[in-house]
Amino acid sequence: MSLSTFELLDDVPHPLAIIAAGKYDEVGKRGGMTAAWLSRVSFHPPLMAVAISPYRHTYKLIIEYRAFTINLVSKELENITMEVFGSLSGRDVDKFKACGIEPLSARRVLAPVIPKSPLVIECRYAEDFKIGDHMVVIGEVVDAYRLSDEVPLIYLKGTSARVCW
Ligand SMILES: Cc1cc2nc3c(=O)[nH]c(=O)nc-3n(C[C@H](O)[C@H](O)[C@H](O)COP(=O)(O)O)c2cc1C
Repeated sequence: MSLSTFELLDDVPHPLAIIAAGKYDEVGKRGGMTAAWLSRVSFHPPLMAVAISPYRHTYKLIIEYRAFTINLVSKELENITMEVFGSLSGRDVDKFKACGIEPLSARRVLAPVIPKSPLVIECRYAEDFKIGDHMVVIGEVVDAYRLSDEVPLIYLKGTSARVCW
């Protein structure tokens, strides 16, 4: 595949979210990462899929705790999404502390929730499988709610972007 063809794939709009997993109130046992390769994949049962590199610390937490949250992000959360959750690894740092966020407890699963997320989707781990160089992690949706009325950002052309609605 030529480089320009590869680069054109960045023109596919994706959601922009922080995937969080682990014990929300225990440093060292919680984490989260920015993800854009994310989609709804089934109505009944309601399933979401996230493509996660097996080297991510967050992937290990999802497999260990069998649950995760998908936290869409707004302009207000953009900086921590790009500079902290999408850049640092939970192996080296507690990202919640690093950006001064006290995560909430998910309502139906054991996982952290990002305060002020415009949409939180709580997932019970369903399965995961390897596709190319990523793992596709499937979560069964057990709850969804808004913590802010802000517009969620999308990921487009290698950066975050705003959609109007
Ligand atoms: C905008 C953006 C989107 C990203 N999307 C994904 C993704 O869909 N899947 C993935 O495995 N990594 C993705 N990443 C990279 C991870 O967020 C990044 O490697 C993170 O530091 C992993 O943290 P962890 O090791 O604590 O899990 C993305 C990063 C950014 C900035």
